[in-house]
Amino acid sequence: MSKHEKFRFKSADELIAKTKELGINLPWSDSVEALFQPTMIQGIKVPNRLTVQPMEGFDSDETGIPLELAYRRYGRYAAGGNGMIWFEACSVVPDGRSNPHQFMINPENVQEYKKLNDHIRKTAADAFGIDYRPFIVLQLTHSGRYSKPYKDYQYKIFSNNPVLELQGGKPEFYSDAEIDEIKAAYIRAIGLAEEAGFDAVDVKACHGYLLHELLFAYDRTDSRYGGSFENRTRFMRDVLSTPSKIIKAVRLNAFDLIPYPYGFGMNPDGSSAIDLTEIKKLIGEFSKWVPLWNISAGIPRYNAFVGRPFDRGVFNAPVPEEHPLTGIDRMIRITGELQHEFPELSIVGTGYSWLRQFYPNVGAGVLQEKKATFIGLGRSSFAYPDAFNDLIKNGKLDPKKVCVSCSKCTEFMRLGVPSGCAVRDYRYSNKGRREQ
Ligand SMILES: Cc1cc2nc3c(=O)[nH]c(=O)nc-3n(C[C@H](O)[C@H](O)[C@H](O)COP(=O)(O)O)c2cc1C
Repeated sequence: MSKHEKFRFKSADELIAKTKELGINLPWSDSVEALFQPTMIQGIKVPNRLTVQPMEGFDSDETGIPLELAYRRYGRYAAGGNGMIWFEACSVVPDGRSNPHQFMINPENVQEYKKLNDHIRKTAADAFGIDYRPFIVLQLTHSGRYSKPYKDYQYKIFSNNPVLELQGGKPEFYSDAEIDEIKAAYIRAIGLAEEAGFDAVDVKACHGYLLHELLFAYDRTDSRYGGSFENRTRFMRDVLSTPSKIIKAVRLNAFDLIPYPYGFGMNPDGSSAIDLTEIKKLIGEFSKWVPLWNISAGIPRYNAFVGRPFDRGVFNAPVPEEHPLTGIDRMIRITGELQHEFPELSIVGTGYSWLRQFYPNVGAGVLQEKKATFIGLGRSSFAYPDAFNDLIKNGKLDPKKVCVSCSKCTEFMRLGVPSGCAVRDYRYSNKGRREQ
């Protein structure tokens, strides 16, 4: 096991020396040109390879309508030149919200989402010309065991999982009839995403939320949605196979690092080894409906370091044993294995923010080695939404603007207040918040 260390590299040489010491072969390119290459997804042009990963801002009103801070955030992504903007989790029903201010789409507010999309497209066109059109994806969610739509809500779970903590009390289990209803809400929301003018819609299956929970419901055998592979993937199959004009996408956990039968993508021998057999089967079966995939890993409330390596844990939680570079290397290798297995698919890679000013070189190397089609940035998009502009202008990033992986943005989420970068964005600093 490698040992955790904070980021302290002053130069690329120091970073590369550390990877060698750890026995890691991180992709690398001195030129970042590969990030600027446009590409197509089912006939729609994506102007470059930088993707804003979904990042909840918790700034809608209680009916799900995006408010001023959301316009500011998405406007900054658009003005920053990002080729793909993957909207944060947007609930399909009130009970599936993780927070009373999480985005939520419904027939009553769909035009508000259209308005926000128009704002994004206009901002991008004002900055880069009328032909510059970021590709916009809506992420649909139901928070399942992590739902917290209001204070006294009695959340439910789908399967017993002794590894994942409960919110408290002894929750009931979702019935099949309830899952059927949620499925109908997803199918309705896909139509709404199309009406709101998104380019694609993501049926999110990651990070421990409901659709991911179904995938690891190995021991819920009294349900049409649990037990066998066929059953555990039924929800996704039914939703993804429903005909629609809009492009479909999936954000998928490729592995959880929680031993079988309580984690997905793990070896059935119960060890901590990753096993992509079911993941590959799932992607292989659904790829006829889904050309765009976004690969993630781990469960933020249990083992956040797996999918988002950090220097400082949430509320100073202990840092993990492993070196952040070990986690980044694992994400790149597994995403690369999936991209090699499915070269026709567009795959977004995750987990680059810890690399700070060096992620463009690693990302460009990943693209050159065809280990992903897009480079996704989560925390870094909060901190440095105009990274693309600086890369185009200077060929490199400004170390004074990068994410420092301090976990403050996640702390805001846990506190239930609007989330953003406390270090690089004055609006979310203590002083900036007081002034609002
Ligand atoms: C504050 C915060 C909010 C997030 N919200 C979402 C979300 O809505 N949907 C999602 O799939 N992932 C979400 N994520 C995970 C990120 O999209 C991303 O996978 C993760 O931060 C790792 O990428 P990074 O190293 O570039 O930050 C969130 C992460 C953070 C820190």
